[in-house]
Amino acid sequence: MTSNQDYILQVRNLTKTFAGIKALNDVQLDLRKGEVHALMGENGAGKSTFMKILSGLETPDSGEISLSGTLLANKTVREAQRSGISMIHQEILAVPELTVAQNIFLGRELTHWLPGWLDNRSINQQAEKLLNHMGATINVRAKMKNLSVAEQQMVEIAKAISNNAQVLIMDEPTSALSYKEVDVLFKLIDELKQKGVAIIYISHKMEEIRQLADTITVLRDGNYIGTYPANELDTHSLINLMVGREINNLFPEASSQAGREVLRIENLTRQDAFSNISFTVHEGEILGIGGLMGAGRTELARAIFGLDRPESGEIYVKGQRIDITSPQQAIRTGIGYVSDDRKGWGFIPELSIKHNLTLASLPAHANGTFIDAKRETESAHKMIRELRIKTAGPDQKIAQLSGGNQQKVVIGKVLLASPSLIILDEPTRGIDVGAKFEIYKLIRQLAADGVAIIVISSELPELIGLSDRILVLEKGKQTALLDKAEASQEMILRYAMPN
Ligand SMILES: Nc1ncnc2c1ncn2[C@@H]1O[C@H](COP(=O)(O)OP(=O)(O)OP(=O)(O)O)[C@@H](O)[C@H]1O
Ligand SMILES: [Mg+2]
Repeated sequence: MTSNQDYILQVRNLTKTFAGIKALNDVQLDLRKGEVHALMGENGAGKSTFMKILSGLETPDSGEISLSGTLLANKTVREAQRSGISMIHQEILAVPELTVAQNIFLGRELTHWLPGWLDNRSINQQAEKLLNHMGATINVRAKMKNLSVAEQQMVEIAKAISNNAQVLIMDEPTSALSYKEVDVLFKLIDELKQKGVAIIYISHKMEEIRQLADTITVLRDGNYIGTYPANELDTHSLINLMVGREINNLFPEASSQAGREVLRIENLTRQDAFSNISFTVHEGEILGIGGLMGAGRTELARAIFGLDRPESGEIYVKGQRIDITSPQQAIRTGIGYVSDDRKGWGFIPELSIKHNLTLASLPAHANGTFIDAKRETESAHKMIRELRIKTAGPDQKIAQLSGGNQQKVVIGKVLLASPSLIILDEPTRGIDVGAKFEIYKLIRQLAADGVAIIVISSELPELIGLSDRILVLEKGKQTALLDKAEASQEMILRYAMPN
């Protein structure tokens, strides 16, 4: 391999196959010191696999990796870390029972006196310093499992930074962060760049890529497509390189007419979550809900779906007042919910794609008390086709799918239950542009078929592009109900921000 002084990391002809699926095929990378190098590609393109190989979590079938001109034999995570490669994972890998500080220093505990003797006081101090610097107010003694997803993500970032890595890999680091936290992260990235740290950045959010990336490498279906200076590649060309086909208008035109009322919420209140929320959603209508992290959007969705109980207020479904006391009841009433927490309520990792897909519609897939395996397989094939789920087949374990493809399965599960109201909480988190386009088309199609839809989204272009009306929450209070025609990003943010 020819090595070049400018490059801190060089990868040549990397190949990796999983049970018949070629996840990576002859992939290349040249990473400069102090640059942010975006790695782009659709769901399942091989980005995470590539990064896991760099950080020692997966072993490649063939290929060469060299760091500062020296060929690496990265066999373990620890060796990768020792040689200066650190990774922030797409899925949080923390140990739930350990404290924040223990998680940050996991695997390289600071010891004094006796080797192996964990010095909690010292790691607490250091963790506190680190998190303070990041502008995060997180109790370092709290158990990881008691943190919100956003807080856990901040801890992951702190952990990676504390390794003093020369190469820092960020695999969708902002997926659960609020605007403010994203700001903090971007400042940190700037500082790290100044110090000469090279950052490999993976995100499906185009705006982030435009803001951060110096260089962009594109993968498609495990193949290396090319590497480009970010300022020479406009967003349209980038999207076309990623998906390998022309996509022009990301948001399909509204074609549906609002019909009868499906859901009416009156003065719904749940303490410490939201208060006095009132709105309606009709057949064929898409109602967007905007707001900052913690505004009460997910809490509202959970209450409608019967996961939490509101203290006061009323819920009407098709004109009938209902107390929704459990998700099972919500599903029977015709309500479907795609949670923002894929791992929690979203899917069961141990199960196959097929069994995950049919989880919410078992009665429709059974003859009496027996599951009709044939019908189940047919439904699974249908969803795999319609949602373009990239998989070896319906019997593959969902845990083996790429993040975005897992999300598609979760949406498919809700669709199979044929609901009359669907609540989608951050439906395209971690989903690539091509698949986003498919999902937007699908949501519009569902609306055209008369389904009432609620979309919760932190991505403002998505919220505006998709919704017919937009409800804005701020700290649990309803601050606006906007028509599509009058809604702009600035306006939504103004109503979403505390005064
Ligand atoms: N442990 C595994 N076993 C089997 N197949 C796997 C495994 N890990 C990944 N794959 C497959 O390898 C391919 C690449 O997956 P990878 O997670 O690298 O994609 P990605 O580009 O990170 O996608 P996303 O944007 O959705 O996160 C996919 O087809 C995926 O299903
Ligand atoms: Mg990934």
